[in-house]
Amino acid sequence: KVRKKLVVGNWKMNGGLKRNAALLAGLAACGNREGVDVVVCPPYPYLAQAVAAVKGAGVAVGGQDLCAFKDGAYTGEVSASMLLDLGCAWVIVGHSERRSLFGEADAVVAAKVQAALDAGLSPILCVGESLAQREAGEAEAVVCSQLDHVVDVLGAERFAGVVVAYEPVWAIGTGKTASPEQAQGMHREIRMHLERRGVAAEGVKILYGGSVTAANASQLFAEPDIDGALVGGASLVADSFSSICAAA
Ligand code: G3H
Repeated sequence: KVRKKLVVGNWKMNGGLKRNAALLAGLAACGNREGVDVVVCPPYPYLAQAVAAVKGAGVAVGGQDLCAFKDGAYTGEVSASMLLDLGCAWVIVGHSERRSLFGEADAVVAAKVQAALDAGLSPILCVGESLAQREAGEAEAVVCSQLDHVVDVLGAERFAGVVVAYEPVWAIGTGKTASPEQAQGMHREIRMHLERRGVAAEGVKILYGGSVTAANASQLFAEPDIDGALVGGASLVADSFSSICAAA
């Protein structure tokens, strides 16, 4: 297996200059580990702080979102080239909170993934079903449809540059992690679906997200199709986040 593990911390809308400084100092233990790449995604105003703080620590920085447009009259938005300019290499796209709380439709998500790739940023595309959709037996169909919107826009070849994060909505911030078997099952399905769409899916990293902790990370990482994690709450505590990186 050629896929190197990837652990991404999504701070969401948390932090402050002082608190970030302590957290970022604690991340020195996360980087420069063999077999795992580490990324932190603070809110926009703290990206420069994070880039400066992790310099030389082998930790990369990413945005939590971006605008699909290049530049111009889009008040409140941040472009891919601005993220690059600040030293970001990564960007999260289509997080379930963006989709559900801010009305981001699949077409917008696809355009954002494309804008990220066009600018040279590595997009982390989030997909995942709600509890109601899982209980209705629609989980696979929902996730495949979310992927299809992006494959349709990018084409199979370009999709190879995308990292997928499977985040079942019912597991996000709830303490209810998907079992390693549940997550592995969906990751396998995602890989097979991408393969069916003509994507070189064996090389695509598929991260799991949803209540990942230092206690459950190694079991999840032991599954053959789980290539790392997108970590929310536990990425706000340096010790927890370093333990997750160490488990990868
Ligand atoms: O982006 C991260 C995910 O939404 C997971 O969040 O680890 O707090 O459940 P969580």
